[in-house]
Amino acid sequence: MHPPTIVILGTGGTIAGQAESASDNIGYIAAQVGVDQLVAAIPSLAGFGSLITEQVAQVDSKDMGFEVWMRLAARVNHFLAQPAVRGIVITHGTDTLEETAYFLHAVCRPAKPVVLTCAMRPATALVPDGPQNMLDAMAVASHAGARGVVAVCAGTIHSALDVQKVHTYKLDAFSSGDAGPIGYIEEGSLKLMRNWPEAQDERAQAAIKFIANGATLADWPRVEVVMNHVGAGGSVVDALHAHGVQGLVVAATGNGTLHHELEAALLRVQAAGVKVVRATRCLNGRVLPTPGDVLPDSKGLSPVKARIEMMLELMATS
Ligand code: SIN
Repeated sequence: MHPPTIVILGTGGTIAGQAESASDNIGYIAAQVGVDQLVAAIPSLAGFGSLITEQVAQVDSKDMGFEVWMRLAARVNHFLAQPAVRGIVITHGTDTLEETAYFLHAVCRPAKPVVLTCAMRPATALVPDGPQNMLDAMAVASHAGARGVVAVCAGTIHSALDVQKVHTYKLDAFSSGDAGPIGYIEEGSLKLMRNWPEAQDERAQAAIKFIANGATLADWPRVEVVMNHVGAGGSVVDALHAHGVQGLVVAATGNGTLHHELEAALLRVQAAGVKVVRATRCLNGRVLPTPGDVLPDSKGLSPVKARIEMMLELMATS
């Protein structure tokens, strides 16, 4: 009988960032320190038993792309399938963490915990937050009963479905909005407030097939996000349509409202076969559907997550 193993996959981010001075928390280069080095700097990780580390990518997450996503999903599925693996921790930049978390949750449907963690300060900071976030993520990945993709930052566990970066600088940079966090980590113990995220099966199958069939970047459905704002017109929508966009998510104002010119353009392209969904640019709340809505709402997903959902739907129908 092998001891349970935790796998730590490195993808880069500020948690692996380096600055020239220990007092510089913002003038750093992200994705410099290897995952092995990050792990070696936290001796108490040895207390979690058997560890496997792997550097899947080394990117500033603003540059995260579909190639890395495909590689990461394949490695996550590979390790999840191994009976000795209890959970997976992924180090990731904060900027697009919520997108990778949502993608992995939809595609990998983990019955074990897959925990994305990060840092707001580089590894070289006088008081870095990465090591504590890593320890907390390990506590979640080792927790009996934990499952699904979650994010751990500043002592808080967020569901992949709800997590959103809400602050540019504070260490506690994430929120789960109205849903609230799944729980908290206190000195290695979990205080749970609600259930772990549930996976949805249908889209995963199609996406896994799409990736397994050797999808290239060119095969990924082209879905863009446009925004409603004062003076919003239809020219961006028309230009994207002319460039072959397959889907558009509009970050609408308030409860899904749109400038009449932008709305007219969206209705035009929808009639021409482009998928259109309305999300809201408000940080909290969802677009509440009303009878007769012609442009469907995002069912509570933020604009960036609605975009991923639409790409997965397009993969399923392509
Ligand atoms: C990144 O997202 O890779 C850089 C910023 C961060 O991790 O906080």
